[in-house]
Amino acid sequence: MSNTVIEKSTVIEIQNIKKHFKDIKAVDGVSLNIQKGELFSILGPNGAGKSTLARLLTTVLTPTSGDATIKGHSIKTGKSSIIKLIGVCPQEIVIYDILTAEENVIFVAQMHDIPFKKAKEKAKTLLEKLDIGGRKIWAKKFSGGMKRRLNLIMALVHEPEILFLDEPTAGLDPQARRIVWDFIRDLKNKGVTIVLMTHDMIEADSLSDHVAIIDHGKIIAQGSPTELKEKHGSENVIEITFSEKEDLNIVKNQCDNISSVNNYNVIGERTLLISFKGGMKNFIEIFQKLILVENINDVETMNFRQNTLEDVFLNLTGRRLRD
Ligand SMILES: Nc1ncnc2c1ncn2[C@@H]1O[C@H](COP(=O)(O)OP(=O)(O)OP(=O)(O)O)[C@@H](O)[C@H]1O
Ligand SMILES: [Mg+2]
Repeated sequence: MSNTVIEKSTVIEIQNIKKHFKDIKAVDGVSLNIQKGELFSILGPNGAGKSTLARLLTTVLTPTSGDATIKGHSIKTGKSSIIKLIGVCPQEIVIYDILTAEENVIFVAQMHDIPFKKAKEKAKTLLEKLDIGGRKIWAKKFSGGMKRRLNLIMALVHEPEILFLDEPTAGLDPQARRIVWDFIRDLKNKGVTIVLMTHDMIEADSLSDHVAIIDHGKIIAQGSPTELKEKHGSENVIEITFSEKEDLNIVKNQCDNISSVNNYNVIGERTLLISFKGGMKNFIEIFQKLILVENINDVETMNFRQNTLEDVFLNLTGRRLRD
């Protein structure tokens, strides 16, 4: 697989965009620049404003204030030009129940003026790539995962240069999720600019060039996954769930006395996440000082892992991406 060399230029420019629904500030002053050929993820928890931002950028919604341009066309005044440039895979599945998978793809392709013969060939190739069988069966009989993959194909059958994907792997089993990830990577390697809305930190980490973390309608951090993990956390994390909540309080109070501990977060009543610098040596020191010296009754589970985007979110907000 060869990577296309892409010159850096901004294709999407978002300037202080807001969308308020009465007193709900769904998107509340977002400014971002998305470069050509980049896979740019908007990562955030439920209700953070991801889909609203996607709807604004794809001209479905009009902003309360602010603007965004796609290849220089304003989302407020250049809708017809933008629609020709983009593909949109919405979070809600939009397929025709009483058409087969192939018919769904051909139907959408023809709406984009792709001739029937070519549309049929494309449908065959794409359905095979995304492992959608049962081409003679009505789509309403499909599993949720098949419908979601079909939805994705319908968003891109016309080979748009900019693609918006809103939670494209929601509800997929691990194998289907991997197929979709590989498919998205292939699109990126072909030079497509991809804006991915997701709450899945593994997805954002493994696919993205750039991640913007959104919370309550605002971007709270952005950078490459590596930059974010370096800036908002330390390399390693120990996650301990205590059998008794009193033990958590004892250990928590001792964390401040250990120099390798950068910070800690309490999740629920019995789980403590400790971010620390250094490797195994420091892990052993922390374990000894907190668990052995403090004479803790019992530890239910403990794991030692590398810092993730979930930890970045936790360090920034005190909450998990999925509570
Ligand atoms: N049309 C609407 N009218 C009123 N409130 C809305 C509307 N659309 C979205 N909201 C609210 O705006 C906020 C952001 O919603 P949005 O769907 O953009 O979040 P999201 O990050 O996509 O969440 P999810 O992960 O659940 O898809 C939520 O509080 C939601 O209830
Ligand atoms: Mg959403």
